[in-house]
Amino acid sequence: MAPSVSDSLLAWYDTHHRTLPWRAAPGEPATDPYRVWLSEIMLQQTTVAAVKPYFEAFTARWPTVDALAAAPEEDVMAAWAGLGYYSRARNLVKTAALVAERGAFPDTEAALRELPGLGAYTAAAIAAIAFGRRAVVVDANVERVVSRLFAIEEPLPKSRKTIRERTETITPQARAGDFAQAMMDLGSGICTTRNPKCLLCPLRDSCEARASDEPERFPVKSAKKDKPVRRGVAYWIKRDSSAWLVTRPTKGVFAGMRALPSDGWSARADGSGDEPLSGVWRSIGGVQHGFTHFALQLDVKRYEGTEMPEGDGEWWPVDRLAEAGLPTLFAKAARLALAEPD
Ligand code: ADE
Ligand code: SF4
Repeated sequence: MAPSVSDSLLAWYDTHHRTLPWRAAPGEPATDPYRVWLSEIMLQQTTVAAVKPYFEAFTARWPTVDALAAAPEEDVMAAWAGLGYYSRARNLVKTAALVAERGAFPDTEAALRELPGLGAYTAAAIAAIAFGRRAVVVDANVERVVSRLFAIEEPLPKSRKTIRERTETITPQARAGDFAQAMMDLGSGICTTRNPKCLLCPLRDSCEARASDEPERFPVKSAKKDKPVRRGVAYWIKRDSSAWLVTRPTKGVFAGMRALPSDGWSARADGSGDEPLSGVWRSIGGVQHGFTHFALQLDVKRYEGTEMPEGDGEWWPVDRLAEAGLPTLFAKAARLALAEPD
């Protein structure tokens, strides 16, 4: 009998797995659920390469879930700066507090699903990787591999249900965590979006897309609509060697984080903001950022007048701006402003 997909994949994983800081070697006891959970939250929407240094910094500073639960939220938000999708950091703090209170992470997929910020994928991944539970783990890599293995013609996102059913048929009873991570490694190194390396693939003999000679055609995607574009303005106000920073409201985009003052871009489409001080404002360029539901084009204006800002805000030394924990969008705006001659 030909070896099953999971046997072939696990044998490949035993010798070709990536070594990652949150990972146990194949067949070894699982790593601490705290590390698995933290890595999975960071890896949602962020690449392995970008996550690694943040994971190392977080676990050095907060080695346990109890330590993280005891950390002030603004410290965690600042340490998260640059990773994006900041609601993840807020949920992280909430979840750490819940877990510290109950004494341990829940160890089933269903109970994990109840934690803030844990969707179907993350709950399944933690159940499998940290607790060895058989769970059907489907991320974007798995979607691609499975769409190809079974040459699924139905387009994404409609095909999600079929993909899940097919993934369930190949998920083994034992080593579910290794299997999930093997699928991810295969998807990131072999079964890549472009130019999949089918000749090196442990699943080539059972892959229908390879048999069709057009593996790149899968996953089939339905034509997608462009995201709406919103415009806004970020204001750069500098006095001596400090810049004026505000803390954003506790609700909405970048909630509770330090930022440059801006107009109401999260609500308005035309970017016609009210400038925070009267006097001369000079446009010095723009920065952009793709959010989940819209793209933002932010013009950066530098103040060349003499008024002083009032109200909530703080003067922050520009040579220590990296420590302010600005979201990447505002850090880029600040870099534009700092590149200008005074
Ligand atoms: N992406 C999401 N989770 C991952 C993991 N555990 N290993 C590698 N890539 C991942
Ligand atoms: Fe992907 Fe090719 Fe392997 Fe099929 S044979 S799973 S298309 S790399």
